[in-house]
Amino acid sequence: MLRSARPANVAAAIAHARQRLAQACEIPSLDAQVLVAHLLDKPRAWLLAHPEEALTSAQAEALEAALQRLESGEPLPYLLGHWEFYALDFTITAAVLIPRPETELLVDTALTWLKTHPGPRRAADVGTGSGCIAVSLAHHDRELTVIASDLSRQALWVARQNALKHAVLERVRLVQMDLLTALATRDAPLDLLCANLPYIPRNTLAALPVSRWEPRAALDGGEDGLDFIRRLLEQAPARLKPGGLALLEIEAGQGEQAVELAHQAFPLARIQVLPDLAGHPRLLVIESQVFRRK
Ligand SMILES: C[S@@+](CC[C@H](N)C(=O)[O-])C[C@H]1O[C@@H](n2cnc3c(N)ncnc32)[C@H](O)[C@@H]1O
Repeated sequence: MLRSARPANVAAAIAHARQRLAQACEIPSLDAQVLVAHLLDKPRAWLLAHPEEALTSAQAEALEAALQRLESGEPLPYLLGHWEFYALDFTITAAVLIPRPETELLVDTALTWLKTHPGPRRAADVGTGSGCIAVSLAHHDRELTVIASDLSRQALWVARQNALKHAVLERVRLVQMDLLTALATRDAPLDLLCANLPYIPRNTLAALPVSRWEPRAALDGGEDGLDFIRRLLEQAPARLKPGGLALLEIEAGQGEQAVELAHQAFPLARIQVLPDLAGHPRLLVIESQVFRRK
């Protein structure tokens, strides 16, 4: 049987990986470089400066094994064990959703609001997963404390690693709970409530490639995808300060329904939906009780 020759050096390894990943990845040339850099434990810039560097046979075998995993559909971040979000590096395991660029809109909107509302503030990140939202917020706002909740103990372990990695663990409190239920209404109210909860309608989930790899509990939003958003909006008014901000990521088709649910929960609030970079409705923004009479 004919076997393709093992790539002998860095340039050949990148070219080989790019060709093998052409069908499996959206940006094969970038993913090929990221993969080879990971296997050689070098920065990507080093690869470009050392194209003639020889690969050991162990490195060539590791490349082959990694390419087979990627060709079978496994996402690159699970193979690497880390991924970038909001310009920070996050540890990632199969227990957590891979942080998405769309979610950076939530973090951006939160940080902009925090700048105009200075001082020590209290936030919650509901369904924290890898902790990418909670950790990014705490990293960029040194006066912020964040309660980061998740039902999954494994996800909270990953979020803890990331809070440690970015030196914010003393201001990120990790709590295993269902949405905000364990946060008593008599506790100090929240200035900011953030959530990227599961929002994919159940019957569309099975057809999506993500359902093969990412945790179902991070994706399945119930029949119409709004089960968790609906429940969180029921809990939120008793826990958010008047004048506070709630930011909930939604699926592109959920804008109208999400606004209606938000109006039911916060009849006096200013409510809008912001689009993501692709122009799809993505972020439900609720400024609570801005119209309240004194
Ligand atoms: C879509 S993922 C988002 C993860 C992370 N916040 C991000 O943006 O990448 C949703 C997360 O919500 C968690 N989750 C699901 N149901 C929950 C519930 N009832 N209470 C708290 N967290 C829940 C899942 O375990 C998962 O980690």
